[in-house]
Amino acid sequence: MNLRTLHKTSAIIVGAFACLHLANHLVSLAGVQEHIAFMERARGIYRQPAVEAILLFCVAFQIGSGFWLLLRGWMNRRGAVAWLQALSGAVLAGFLLIHVGAVLYARGVLDLDTTFYFSAAGFHIPLYPFFFVPYYFFAVLALFTHIACAVFWHMQSASLRARQLALVLPMLVGTVVSSLLVLSLAGKIQPVEVPAKYKASYPALFTSSP
Ligand code: HEM
Repeated sequence: MNLRTLHKTSAIIVGAFACLHLANHLVSLAGVQEHIAFMERARGIYRQPAVEAILLFCVAFQIGSGFWLLLRGWMNRRGAVAWLQALSGAVLAGFLLIHVGAVLYARGVLDLDTTFYFSAAGFHIPLYPFFFVPYYFFAVLALFTHIACAVFWHMQSASLRARQLALVLPMLVGTVVSSLLVLSLAGKIQPVEVPAKYKASYPALFTSSP
């Protein structure tokens, strides 16, 4: 099995988790308590020690192999779809590195329960939204775009129109999903009152009073 095949194989595991994970975040549109109730059930699957170990291993492998494939193919990359695939992969890998690191740090070191409030806190502290809005928006869009590029390459025998549709449609869906998730975290769809302990986990740089 070569590196590209291993990258695609581990993508199936990370992708399956991402579907469950984003569905979980979409439930927040109905309310934060509904989201947390869904998460408690979903954790019954992905927080099983063996499942979580495999997931985190695949995430680490996905990031490492992705960066390696990106660098290795740098000189041979031709055409807009190849570059879109590389760019979306790089955004996703960078996001996963920070995101999973932050989740594990919050759980292990800060002793926080990493629910919706953990992600939402950054949207409710002055200036932090300038980082967190594009951070989550482009991560989710990059996921949809990266998958769309893979589908595009697999449809070699289909017409160009069908391949273009397979590329553009998921990106449009990704734009809608990203926007909804960001609006939900920002409390623009349903009321969000972030508990103080989540806000306190952020550096007091912009929150301390004079
Ligand atoms: C709006 C977008 C996202 C938000 C708000 C978000 C938020 C979160 C939260 C709150 C957790 C902790 C879950 C828990 O404690 O049970 C988490 C974990 C995680 N997220 Fe995300 N996430 C987002 C997008 C993504 C994407 C696109 C991926 C990539 C596939 C991803 C991968 C992960 C992984 C691998 C974990 C660690 C799971 C674990 O071992 O507990 N996330 N995320």
